[in-house]
Amino acid sequence: MLNLDPHHYTSPDIHASDVANIFTRSWQLLGAASRLSERGDYIAVEIAGQKVFVVRAKDGLRAYRNVCRHRGARLLPEGTGRCNTIRCPYHQWVWGDDGSLLNVPWWGDDADFKMEDWALDTVEWHIWRGLLFVAIDPEMPFEEQLGATEAELAPEPMESYQWVHEERLIFDANWKIYTDNFVEGYHIPGIHPAFHRAIEFEAFETVALDGLVRMSAPPREGLFYRGKWMWMWPNWTLSLFEGGMNTSRINPIDHQRTELIYNFYFADTSEATRAARAKTIEDNLQVIREDFEVCLETQKNYRSGGYRAGPLSPRHEQGVAYFQDRLRASLANEEQPQEPRNAL
Ligand code: FES
Ligand SMILES: [Fe+2]
Repeated sequence: MLNLDPHHYTSPDIHASDVANIFTRSWQLLGAASRLSERGDYIAVEIAGQKVFVVRAKDGLRAYRNVCRHRGARLLPEGTGRCNTIRCPYHQWVWGDDGSLLNVPWWGDDADFKMEDWALDTVEWHIWRGLLFVAIDPEMPFEEQLGATEAELAPEPMESYQWVHEERLIFDANWKIYTDNFVEGYHIPGIHPAFHRAIEFEAFETVALDGLVRMSAPPREGLFYRGKWMWMWPNWTLSLFEGGMNTSRINPIDHQRTELIYNFYFADTSEATRAARAKTIEDNLQVIREDFEVCLETQKNYRSGGYRAGPLSPRHEQGVAYFQDRLRASLANEEQPQEPRNAL
């Protein structure tokens, strides 16, 4: 099995295809549903440049494109907050949290203009075990995308963990370079020496299942990780540590820049364990940052034309092979004639 050809990581055209075929068509992890507990609480995000938000309305959550129906301005700033109504900052059109247009100031006489024609565009949302996902135009039901992950995490008491912290990290490499890196433990001795000393690397195992790459290794004394790391198609991760877990979303900013949105969850959120939580988060982030330099330099080599696709290890890189097979399949889908997606 050969690595993907380097132009997959450097071409703006392939990136546009990734956005159209993967990011707008899959379920994307936004974080803890508990962050939207009061009416008006919202979270606004970008999914590979597509702006969406989820808000708690009177009768539950609603999810919309974060795009004004007038001339396309962003409605809510990215992040979390609370709103009563949704007011466009540009020309002050106002929508209710049910998506209906409520007010169009200073419009002028216009017999043809009907407020009901300009409701917000909706997107789909789903809550799974306390985690909130959205999908702009889902290719498959949530459970189907989740695949083997449902059974894999069934014994884990995820609902007992409370959200504590979100961290964003940005680096200059394609999202697939970072994903290739995440789904293998082959680089641990070279890139993470302290982490390497803290696990039994000889027993490191990587298994590709349906929609999931599971990596595991017996931890030695003193490692904060519990020895299991998971990546889920197309771009989210979940790792277990003592007393909690983290999740991440690997989000492309463009074809050569990526942000990671990490969220940390703990069972014990008492004052007495505050320092221990902060240390777990910092140790976690340290391991994550150790990967950036190798990703950046790999991106440069792919861009330079100086690299031809090399071989993948059967023992340690079957997660890379699985991810890249799914990518090839999504590109192949694009070459087929497409059925109309929003046929009425
Ligand atoms: S673009 Fe939003 S009101 Fe004009
Ligand atoms: Fe790493």
